Amino acid sequence: MLEVEHLDVDYRGVVAVEDVSFRITPGQMIGIIGPNGAGKSTLVKAILGLIPVANGIIRFRNGLIKKQLNAIAYVPQRTQVDWDYPITVLSVVMMARTARTGWFRQPNRKSKEIVKFALERVGMWEFRSRQIGELSGGQQQRVFLARALAQQADLFFFDEPFVGIDRTTEDIMFDVFHELKREGKILILITHDLGETLTKCDSLLLLNKHIIADGSIKEVATTENLQRAYGNNLLFLNREHKSA
Ligand SMILES: Nc1ncnc2c1ncn2[C@@H]1O[C@H](COP(=O)(O)OP(=O)(O)O)[C@@H](O)[C@H]1O
Ligand SMILES: [Mg+2]
Repeated sequence: MLEVEHLDVDYRGVVAVEDVSFRITPGQMIGIIGPNGAGKSTLVKAILGLIPVANGIIRFRNGLIKKQLNAIAYVPQRTQVDWDYPITVLSVVMMARTARTGWFRQPNRKSKEIVKFALERVGMWEFRSRQIGELSGGQQQRVFLARALAQQADLFFFDEPFVGIDRTTEDIMFDVFHELKREGKILILITHDLGETLTKCDSLLLLNKHIIADGSIKEVATTENLQRAYGNNLLFLNREHKSA
């Protein structure tokens, strides 16, 4: 179980996340939704200890999350990754293993098998020698998904995984999410998008600095709640979805 209690995060005194509390049990996928700038990425980075928190408690399996980072996989927002960095697909996924076995040790046979299996799972094994920067958005996203799988984590964070990807990638991602849930993993999915993605989550957290609503999609995705979170952008979002 992941528990977040009364979390506050600010950037140099400017509040980005305010009094956020929630909990997730194994085998569940929760969607964190809210407009751009709502603090979704900030919330996740704070949970992972990548940025400091002003207040709050984060517990994972009754312990401090900081001591269990090996059990946590994080797929950052694509815009926050440097795609010009020269590295092959295989190396990106292998990084998930070296973090476990030690940076200066050669990957063992088991690690190689796990990496191959992960890349095959997302249909990217044939691309293993390619530079990551040469791939399409969807292919890059699948490589990062493979890296998360190779890490054999128990808690997964995906920040805006559906931005700029193709249908094949989306299908593969949902297949994998479904499998991970069946294995009892915890999945946290961040999206600013109000599409059908939401119907696939077990519960939703609607965020705009603080929590505007949480619970089932029926409870959360009411016009009133969405209007409070998205304001005047809501009309535009609705129209976008009908035409999509
Ligand atoms: N490194 C940073 N320094 C200062 N302010 C930031 C930083 N990162 C994000 N912010 C601000 O914090 C707020 C939340 O940002 P973010 O968490 O990226 O939102 P979201 O992921 O929901 O789009 C925004 O107002 C953003 O401008
Ligand atoms: Mg974000």
